[in-house]
Amino acid sequence: MRVGVFGAGYIGLVTGACLASLGHRVVVRDIVPARVEMLRAGQVPLYEPGLEDLLRQNRDRLTFTLDAAEALEGTEVAFVCVDTPPSASGDADLSRVWSVVAELGSAPELKALVVKSTVPVGTGEQIRGVLETSGLGHLGYASNPEFTAEGRAVRDFLRPDRVVIGAEETETARLVTALHEGIDAPVEVMGVASAEMVKLAANALLATKITFINEIAAVCERTGADVLEVARAVGLDHRLGPHFLNAGLGYGGSCFPKDSRALRAMASNSGHPFQLLSAVIEVNDLQPRRAVQRLKDRLGGLRGRRVALLGLTFKPDTDDMREAPSEVLAARLLAEGCEVTGWDPMARLPDREPWTTRVRRTKTVAEAAEDCDALVVVTEWAELRDVDWSDVAHRMRGRVLFDGRNTLDREELASQGFVCMAVGRATAGED
Ligand code: UDX
Repeated sequence: MRVGVFGAGYIGLVTGACLASLGHRVVVRDIVPARVEMLRAGQVPLYEPGLEDLLRQNRDRLTFTLDAAEALEGTEVAFVCVDTPPSASGDADLSRVWSVVAELGSAPELKALVVKSTVPVGTGEQIRGVLETSGLGHLGYASNPEFTAEGRAVRDFLRPDRVVIGAEETETARLVTALHEGIDAPVEVMGVASAEMVKLAANALLATKITFINEIAAVCERTGADVLEVARAVGLDHRLGPHFLNAGLGYGGSCFPKDSRALRAMASNSGHPFQLLSAVIEVNDLQPRRAVQRLKDRLGGLRGRRVALLGLTFKPDTDDMREAPSEVLAARLLAEGCEVTGWDPMARLPDREPWTTRVRRTKTVAEAAEDCDALVVVTEWAELRDVDWSDVAHRMRGRVLFDGRNTLDREELASQGFVCMAVGRATAGED
């Protein structure tokens, strides 16, 4: 089939490359000239494992353009993969989605519009109304939410747990199902509103699971239980499952924070305050602040202290800093009068944020730790496993290591002289 993909961001590129690998001819359209030029030159403007290879392997079936008409020429299905950032009211800003809808114009071969962007429930119905009044009522409409996690997006697209297709007409559902031929996963066909809700509900439930274990961790710290032991045994209950039970410094990224706020706003707008989700959002906001407070108690104050943040991205294997807990940690530590250094193998620091200019970025963990009172593991990068910690300990003026992701062997570190704090576990190496 011939497919047009609107938006060459993270989701658009993964969708385009994967659909091309399934044998479809894909034209990806973006409005940023530099991005399109890069893609035409075979460069990928973002880091995602496997994506560059997939784009290269399928370049005969992939075209990049700035021109909406070119993306629609001969196209049977148009995918909307633009971003929907939060607006001031907490609702998703849908202006980019509406821009694409407005560009559909005359595309005689177009049979269906498929929205992959995360949108509030009811958006599909609104779009269908607009298509109707603008003479495009014959177009099919489908919601086809994505559930891809950064760092494993290609695998998540080609080998997902399920494909969700929301469509009101059988013909449209069939067309979109056919596009996914070659993917071995259950296809869940449902109404448009339900499909829109699945995405928000899934992300909110995952965020809730993480937050729940973070709360259990806080109680473990006060009662002598160990959250790793608790989570492992709790997760063996097949009704609960082992995933997303790692206590840490809070969830970040481009999806969980944004989608949970969007679902909360949507629920409030519908007259139902989603109190559980409000609590999840609040607890997650507190999580890095609690860590700073624990460090302050441990160090007997933070003014004039030197602290190194190890890992800055919201999770490993990405350069993405969106809603990363490191931002709150850095800003809070600076506000408390600390000097902050930061190590990260990939992070692309946002230059508009005042804290980024005040954190001294280093190339190695050892450099970041030089003369520090404390280290905080913020992101569980694999590189941290190969660090010579006894060398690091000798470079420091203090000996606190706060493992905010419970990723290091704290007994081993304690034997090298560290006082090793963790989340939801006893501190190791105390005198
Ligand atoms: C997530 C969802 O997994 C994906 O399905 C959705 O489409 C987009 O949002 P992503 O944001 O890429 O994907 O990252 P994910 O690996 O899910 O982690 C999100 C955040 O939760 C990270 O900050 C991570 O550190 C944190 N997390 C995750 C925990 O703190 N504990 C866990 O047990 C799991």
